Amino acid sequence: MLPDFVASQVDLTPYNTLALPARAEFLAHIQRIEQLAILASHPEFAGRRRFVLGGGSNLIVAGDFGGFVLRMGILGKRRIGEDATYTYLAVAAGENWSDFVAWTLDSGWPGLENLIGIPGTAGAAPIQNIGAYGVEASDFLYRLTALDLARGETITLDAHDCALGYRDSLFKREGWHLSGRYAITEVVFRLPKAWRPRIAYREVAAKLARDGIENPAPAQIAQVITALRAQKLPDPRQLPNAGSFFQNPKVFAGFAAALRHAHPDLPAYPQPDGSVKLAAAWLIEHADWKGRNLGPVGMYEQQALVLVNRGGARFRDVQNLSRAVREAVFARFGVTLTPEPVLLQDDDGAENAEANA
Ligand code: EPU
Repeated sequence: MLPDFVASQVDLTPYNTLALPARAEFLAHIQRIEQLAILASHPEFAGRRRFVLGGGSNLIVAGDFGGFVLRMGILGKRRIGEDATYTYLAVAAGENWSDFVAWTLDSGWPGLENLIGIPGTAGAAPIQNIGAYGVEASDFLYRLTALDLARGETITLDAHDCALGYRDSLFKREGWHLSGRYAITEVVFRLPKAWRPRIAYREVAAKLARDGIENPAPAQIAQVITALRAQKLPDPRQLPNAGSFFQNPKVFAGFAAALRHAHPDLPAYPQPDGSVKLAAAWLIEHADWKGRNLGPVGMYEQQALVLVNRGGARFRDVQNLSRAVREAVFARFGVTLTPEPVLLQDDDGAENAEANA
């Protein structure tokens, strides 16, 4: 007998913001850490596939999933300490990220304001190191706690151990996330008491100038970010999407220089490692895919990097558009785009999706 917080044969459409239909064999609603421990020691859980789900906002569901989906709903947020330099805040994995950011601002602990409005849960924030408008979670992450579902043991990782990079972490890189090995239960952020605004991002600076704001308070920056996001990023409740569908590609500096010679307005950002990051949205727009549909999916008219589900899309539709866009960008610019969201696939389900395409 499975515990009462586990449901079987659950439609995942409401659990992924791109609204792709798929069925999970089991869906566990985790509201307390003890429920994770109960599952970890349950005989029917042993050896089964598992996947830890937050808000499902950075997820492409490829097909039916045989195994356990653990939907993290553990709530709680509190200040756990301070020293001369920092305030330390702990947030449970299931808290809504943007509500958490709003709470930090209301409580007088600024720092995370540029990250307001990012969909998803706090527990998912470190996995792809969420970022927006010149700030990344890694700028403030202090440590996290996770449960090793294979051993039933709690582990604590310092931010440094998480190997956070551009939309990347140990959880993605080592395959821990897809294997469902660890469930992040709590994340601790460390916010400097000496706050400084991060307003160099071009669009942010331009909007502040337009609004005539010279020395913005944290709440004003949050308002500006919210307004910018509303213009460019569709609300998944109105138009299902998974945020940026591709990463911004990093290329060799020489290649970037050659591309910029041919296309002087291509946005390019030199990286500390000597490579150059290009704007995938620009490449897609100039490969003529901005605002264009293929079947029930399309690249959003206000932000070419966002793949939207215009109604009734299935995984194979997403695959077809993804392929078409990647081919067009490669043909025109010689740049290979890599999808950004996590791909949840059951081996059988993925084969079916492929066969049906
Ligand atoms: N651009 C175009 N065409 C477009 C949209 C943008 O040419 O349709 C150009 C813009 O003019 C700009 C450049 O592309 O020069 C970059 O655009 P933008 O500032 O909108 O950001 P992005 O690189 O497209 C990244 C993140 C977003 C984040 C924004 C804002 C990635 C993959 N995406 O997008 O994050 O909100 O910056 O900071 O890094 C996400 O990860 O899901 C996400 C939405």
